[in-house]
Amino acid sequence: MATATASGSAVRHSETASPLLVYFSSVSGNTARFVEKLGMRAARIPLRASDPRLVVDEPFVLITPTYGGGQSAGHEKGAVPKQVIRFLNDERNRRFIRGVVSAGNTNFGEAYCIAGDIISRKCRVPHLDRFELFGTPEDVDRIGDGLERWWTQH
Ligand SMILES: Cc1cc2nc3c(=O)[nH]c(=O)nc-3n(C[C@H](O)[C@H](O)[C@H](O)COP(=O)(O)O)c2cc1C
Repeated sequence: MATATASGSAVRHSETASPLLVYFSSVSGNTARFVEKLGMRAARIPLRASDPRLVVDEPFVLITPTYGGGQSAGHEKGAVPKQVIRFLNDERNRRFIRGVVSAGNTNFGEAYCIAGDIISRKCRVPHLDRFELFGTPEDVDRIGDGLERWWTQH
């Protein structure tokens, strides 16, 4: 299996002003648009199982959309994209997650952004923020500033 690394060399947490962002985005590309607007270092979790796997070698914040929530009574089945589950099931990646930002659509009601709640609980990291679709300019400012502030304090 081919392996892609997020960065050519290991970067220590304390040496960077902002976190590496690891994100997933489906073909609709909303999350990718949001991440692009943040303008931070970022690595994308591949869409297809046949694509080279992403393996990171430094702490990161995960940004993930919510999918398929609301399908079951507890709303949680299928809410975390399977590509994200595969990425986090790799211990080499999971050990570096420091926080999660989730995306979704408020039309899904109680299932809004629950992928972030699930990952926060399972990986024991904070659910830092949420945004809808590709994010408003206010979302970009708030989350970008918030991530930088939070990163330098942790
Ligand atoms: C089939 C489907 C199921 C979805 N389920 C949820 C959901 O349960 N909760 C939520 O907040 N958003 C849900 N969404 C909205 C997506 O999270 C939202 O469109 C997001 O921006 C998609 O990101 P992407 O284009 O980067 O993949 C769903 C969207 C689709 C198409």
